[in-house]
Amino acid sequence: MRLKDKVVIVTGGNQGIGRDYSLRFALEGAKVVICARKLDTSQQVVDEIKANGGEAMALKVDVSNEEDTKMMAKKTVEKYGKIDVLLNNAAIYSGLSMQPWDTITPEEWDWVFSVNVKGQWLTMKAVVPYMKQAGKGKIINTASTTMLMGIPFLLHYAASKAAVMGLTRCASAELGEFGITVNTICPGLTLTAASTEMPGQPPGLAEFVASMVHLKRNQQPTDLVGPALFLASDDSDFMTGQLVAVDGGMALH
Ligand SMILES: NC(=O)c1ccc[n+]([C@@H]2O[C@H](COP(=O)([O-])OP(=O)(O)OC[C@H]3O[C@@H](n4cnc5c(N)ncnc54)[C@H](O)[C@@H]3O)[C@@H](O)[C@H]2O)c1
Repeated sequence: MRLKDKVVIVTGGNQGIGRDYSLRFALEGAKVVICARKLDTSQQVVDEIKANGGEAMALKVDVSNEEDTKMMAKKTVEKYGKIDVLLNNAAIYSGLSMQPWDTITPEEWDWVFSVNVKGQWLTMKAVVPYMKQAGKGKIINTASTTMLMGIPFLLHYAASKAAVMGLTRCASAELGEFGITVNTICPGLTLTAASTEMPGQPPGLAEFVASMVHLKRNQQPTDLVGPALFLASDDSDFMTGQLVAVDGGMALH
């Protein structure tokens, strides 16, 4: 029970990697607030958590909308009394196609940045006042090894994830004195519906990536759960401003 009685917000906790975070955090004793644009799939995860004896609630939140993110923080505190951890997992990832950098439209660029960068900033902005009051808090942002490696054909996405490191380092410097840590988890290619069904990818991409990963297999959502749990737990209290790559060694190429 490494998160016993902790209150954890997981954005995008309704599907993919976020779903695995939510289920495991609840098993570790956390009260989990699942925030996504789709309430029905979030509620399904809540029902699963409750069926396993855990505690959770679902909120309909668009992280790129400041009213929504303020509501997210307020309703979490109204129901559970505090916010210990924000796991900023939501992003525009499913819905993207791999495509040459100069075919990306300005509209798609803005859409990606409005969620992946502004969204992570707005959720931080919403929870930090409550964390400051408590004198502690943990924020975990999500980047991607696409930006570490310069993976082609997702330039706007990779650039947005590089910006997340700027958010993390600057917020870490400004929030440390309040006992708030800010770190980034950086997944490699992980087999979720979003990655496996992405249009435009070359045939055999997953097999190629598995051959490049030092551990010689594809990454699963569950591979991210342990490192995220460490960053959410008291065990990582003196870590802040860090990028934690969880990619089986892929980005070292
Ligand atoms: N799967 C991978 O290969 C991979 C690799 C590196 C990084 N990541 C990152 O990991 C995270 C999860 O990835 P995934 O594969 O589960 O992708 P996904 O597309 O299935 O999950 C993204 C989540 O974000 C939510 N979301 C999108 N826009 C939102 C908005 N405006 N407001 C609230 N919620 C919103 C979606 O509903 C979904 O729950 C993302 O940040 C992604 O960029 C994934």
